[in-house]
Amino acid sequence: MILVNDRVFVQQHLATEHLEKMTPQSKDELKADVKRLLIEQDAVLVAHYYTPDVIQELAEETGGCVSDSLQMARFGNQHSASTLLVAGVRFMGETAKILTPQKRILMPTLEATCSLDIGCPVDEFSAFCDQHPDRTVVVYANTSAAVKARADWVVTSSIALDVVEHLMDRSEKLIWGPDKHLGSYIQQQTGADMLMWNGSCIVHEEFKAKGILDLKRVYPDAALLVHPESPASVVEIADVVGSTSQLIRAAHELPNKTLIVATDRGIFYKMRQKAPEKQFLEAPTGGMGATCRSCAHCPWMALNELEAMVESLRDGSNEVQVEAGLAKRAMLPLERMLDFTVNASH
Ligand code: 13P
Ligand code: SF4
Repeated sequence: MILVNDRVFVQQHLATEHLEKMTPQSKDELKADVKRLLIEQDAVLVAHYYTPDVIQELAEETGGCVSDSLQMARFGNQHSASTLLVAGVRFMGETAKILTPQKRILMPTLEATCSLDIGCPVDEFSAFCDQHPDRTVVVYANTSAAVKARADWVVTSSIALDVVEHLMDRSEKLIWGPDKHLGSYIQQQTGADMLMWNGSCIVHEEFKAKGILDLKRVYPDAALLVHPESPASVVEIADVVGSTSQLIRAAHELPNKTLIVATDRGIFYKMRQKAPEKQFLEAPTGGMGATCRSCAHCPWMALNELEAMVESLRDGSNEVQVEAGLAKRAMLPLERMLDFTVNASH
């Protein structure tokens, strides 16, 4: 497993503490600055469900989008704004740049990475692929531009199952990277022939089946919603397994009044909006002796801050760049992903 370095933890802690300590006035002032700058810069805000509530709020109030990584890519691709302000993690900004090279892509921070991306260096991954030239290479969107450029297909968790089924219909054998948990889930659902890269998400990997079952004893009527980046022992006891947008839909549609959620707690903003009468509980991550009961928050998503958004829009800082040759190669599997979703009308 990849360890997050201390600096990222400290930054996350400071960012969360900082947002919590902000007075409503200072929050409102910063929000007003971002709104003004979005108009001045012909920019639109594209935010992920895991970003802080205030950023999701801002995206909604300014005609931007709050969504999963697939819809973020689609929205940025179709929107007419000349600048996209992407709040999320680095691969989301890179995807936007690859799909729309003519646009300026800004991010509140370029330090927001992802353990799946870190755990899949292109040289090693490429060498692994070279050993199996007969296999189709399918990579998760949570990867660098260079890894995407080495792939035949890019998928997100909302379409991974469908794409793999489609490739199985064509009798293709696969290399899957980098998330081993999502890969195992898909393999178990489809029976596909997949060689797996050994990567994982440091947030989802921490959910514990034992803690969840203990919590279910206290809330016997609760349904368990699980993102498939979680370990198999957690996926096995889920009532619903799905991408962020699929889990939000389930939270709304299921009859259960209480929901235990095994994914980043940033998702509660949208779940509460869609189902205000329901109770949402974070799935436990801490084992015996742990200092926190649940640490279900991505340290890199937490780095998205209002001040940084103001600075980025005002100064044009944190612009995402992808080397042109790489971008050209990575565009093919990304466009394949978008075309697949249009044809399958996801
Ligand atoms: P989604 O594709 O479901 O938005 O997930 C992205 C992610 O990083 C999950 O940890
Ligand atoms: Fe990456 Fe996990 Fe954070 Fe998602 S939650 S961005 S997979 S580290």
